Amino acid sequence: MEVIVAKSAGFCFGVKRAVDKVYEQIEKNSENKKIYTFGPIIHNEEVVKDLEKKGVQVVNTIDELKKIEEGIIIIRSHGTTKEVYDIIEENNLILEDATCPFVKKIHKIVQTEKNNGKHIVIIGNANHPEVQGIKGWSGDDTTIIGNEEEANNFDYNGGKSICIVSQTTFNYNKFKYLVEIISKKGYDINVLDTICNATHERQAEAKEIASKVDEMIVIGGKHSSNTQKLYEICKNECNHTYYIQTIDDLDLRNIKADSYVGITAGASTPNNIIEEVHTNVRIKF
Ligand code: F3S
Repeated sequence: MEVIVAKSAGFCFGVKRAVDKVYEQIEKNSENKKIYTFGPIIHNEEVVKDLEKKGVQVVNTIDELKKIEEGIIIIRSHGTTKEVYDIIEENNLILEDATCPFVKKIHKIVQTEKNNGKHIVIIGNANHPEVQGIKGWSGDDTTIIGNEEEANNFDYNGGKSICIVSQTTFNYNKFKYLVEIISKKGYDINVLDTICNATHERQAEAKEIASKVDEMIVIGGKHSSNTQKLYEICKNECNHTYYIQTIDDLDLRNIKADSYVGITAGASTPNNIIEEVHTNVRIKF
C-alpha cells in the first residue's frame, strides 16, 4: 500500500492567521475580558470546542452581537458585512479583525466598482458567510450566481456595466464556465478572478492525486464549502472518494491492502487530524 498526502492539505494562510489571532488574544488577555468570535472561527468542530473550553464564545447573529456590552470581538477569515463593524464601533467593543487579506481585497473591489456605477455579480454560494459579507459591502445592487441555472436565468436590465468577482474558494473551472454563460448575454462586463491561490493550488493538487489513486480521502468539516468542492473535484476523478470529518468517520474496510491512497483536506482542517488519518490508514496494513 502507498499513501500520498497532498502538500496543500490543511490550514491555508488566512485560516491559520485567524486561528492564531484567537489563541493570541486568549494569551494576552490579562484583564480577563470576554472574547467572542463572530461566527465559528473556522468550520471545524474540534477547534471550536477547544476554544470554547478556553472561554471563547461564538456570537451567531447580529441580534446577539447588539446585546454585547463589552469585550473583544474577533472577525473570522471569511470577513463580514459593514453593518457588523458599525455595531462593534457603536457598542465600544474591541475589534480584532482576522478577515483574510484576500477577502478584504474583494470588499474593496466591490465597494470601488459599486461607486463607479457598476452592478456587482458575485459568483459563489449565496448561503456562505464570505459571500454574504461581500454582499454587505457591494449593497443591494448585487446578484449572486452559484450554478448553471442561475447563470442562464441572469437577466439584468438595470442599464449599468457589470463587475464579476468570485468567492475565494469557488471551483475555478466552474467559475470560468459560469462567466462564459454570462458573457454570451452581451453585457459590458469586467471579470475579476478573485479565487485565491491557496484554493487554486489545493484544487489542482487534489485533482492530480485523485486521478491516479484507487481511494481518495477528503478531510474537512461538513459545513466547509471549500472541502465540499474538493470532494466534488476528487469524486469526478476517483469513484472511491470518501468525505470525512475525523478518522472516526472513515470505514477502513473501504481501503484495500494493495491500494494507492490519496489524502487531502480543506482549509479548516488542523494538521493533527490529517496526521491521525494518515497514521491510521498506514498502520491498518
Ligand atoms: Fe484566505 Fe484563501 Fe484561505 S482567501 S482564508 S488564504 S482560502
